[in-house]
Amino acid sequence: MGRRWPVAAMSPEALLERARAARGSAYAPYSQFAVGAAVETIDGDVVVGCNVENASYGLSICAERAALVHAIALGHRSFRAIAIAGPDGAVAAPCGACRQFIVEFGEGIAVIYVGSAGPIQTSAGELLPHAFGPHSLA
Ligand code: THU
Repeated sequence: MGRRWPVAAMSPEALLERARAARGSAYAPYSQFAVGAAVETIDGDVVVGCNVENASYGLSICAERAALVHAIALGHRSFRAIAIAGPDGAVAAPCGACRQFIVEFGEGIAVIYVGSAGPIQTSAGELLPHAFGPHSLA
């Protein structure tokens, strides 16, 4: 294999577009609130996820956690960014459980979602200050 060159970070809009595409796979028959997420790994790969609901409602999993679980299962451990896309016109900020799940992999991970006035870029640490994380168990 040839040398791997560092890959430039994707634009927030490009990652959001991948999240919108993943939204099409959402299984959301109960809420009708389809969500897609796209994680950009440190190598520049993009791994997607979508929400998957269940008749036992509490077992439903959000798109962000599905994307991160998918990425981890593929062997990734380091992430640059995650983008989240809910239904067009809806604000789809990550829920508290997903904030905790994202911050596990780094406070610096960029989080891109669509707010009431358009796309917002923030970070895992800003979305969950004073987080309980791997350092708490050290
Ligand atoms: N949902 C996500 O996928 N991500 C979030 O951060 C918030 C909520 C999903 C869960 C459920 O399937 C639907 O949106 C409505 O709550």
